[in-house]
Amino acid sequence: MKIGILGAGHIGQALARLLAEAGHDVGLSNSRGPETLQDLTERLGHGIRAYSSEDAARFGELVIETVPFGHYNDLPTAQLNGKIVIDTANYYPERDGQIDLGGLSESAFMARHLGGARVVKAFNAIQAAHLESQGDVSQPLEERRAIPIASDDDEAKAVVSRLIEEIGFAPVDNGNLEQSKTQQPGTPIYGREATAAKARELLGLH
Ligand SMILES: NC(=O)c1ccc[n+]([C@@H]2O[C@H](COP(=O)([O-])OP(=O)(O)OC[C@H]3O[C@@H](n4cnc5c(N)ncnc54)[C@H](OP(=O)(O)O)[C@@H]3O)[C@@H](O)[C@H]2O)c1
Repeated sequence: MKIGILGAGHIGQALARLLAEAGHDVGLSNSRGPETLQDLTERLGHGIRAYSSEDAARFGELVIETVPFGHYNDLPTAQLNGKIVIDTANYYPERDGQIDLGGLSESAFMARHLGGARVVKAFNAIQAAHLESQGDVSQPLEERRAIPIASDDDEAKAVVSRLIEEIGFAPVDNGNLEQSKTQQPGTPIYGREATAAKARELLGLH
């Protein structure tokens, strides 16, 4: 599928490579324009293309939003309307500044900001280096590292779950966007290497 990525940092690069290797058509963007991404896209290979963030959002049937949370206001909201948007972000006040989430989870806040997007929280609780190295499609699902995933949209969640399996991890359904609070920084699952069974235990799921 066509996947647009907003953010070409640690997580954006890791997902671009993994998803392109899995056969997807990937477009990558940063805040400074496609001309600043030529060396990176050449190095990543697999036909990954450089776009502006607006064009990456337009290009993707599914879009991954992986910019530091404090930059949420710069996201191309109009182009994300109606699309499945994977939100990998974590809110760190010391990095992102004070943002009033109004008691919402970070991803529910993002979904409200984006309006018409079908937001799915995923890949926020794994370090980029581990995302790069720990996926293993040769392993059965129950032995793979788990990736918790949350959304208010079950169909979107199913699409993202398939992508997670394709890159060698095991998706664990962590409920809706409000419930994604249990995979935010400071929670037991955050940064933790766990199988799906262990992840469900750490997330308090039964
Ligand atoms: N690093 C990790 O291990 C990790 C793990 C899980 C989750 N996360 C979360 O995932 C998010 C991204 O983290 P990261 O470590 O990958 O960040 P990063 O390495 O700092 O990279 C951020 C990227 O976002 C780009 N960007 C900023 N504003 C943009 C915009 N409006 N449109 C398109 N691109 C934009 C930056 O482009 P420029 O370079 O042009 O400014 C840069 O390429 C954060 O919320 C982080 O907390 C990180």
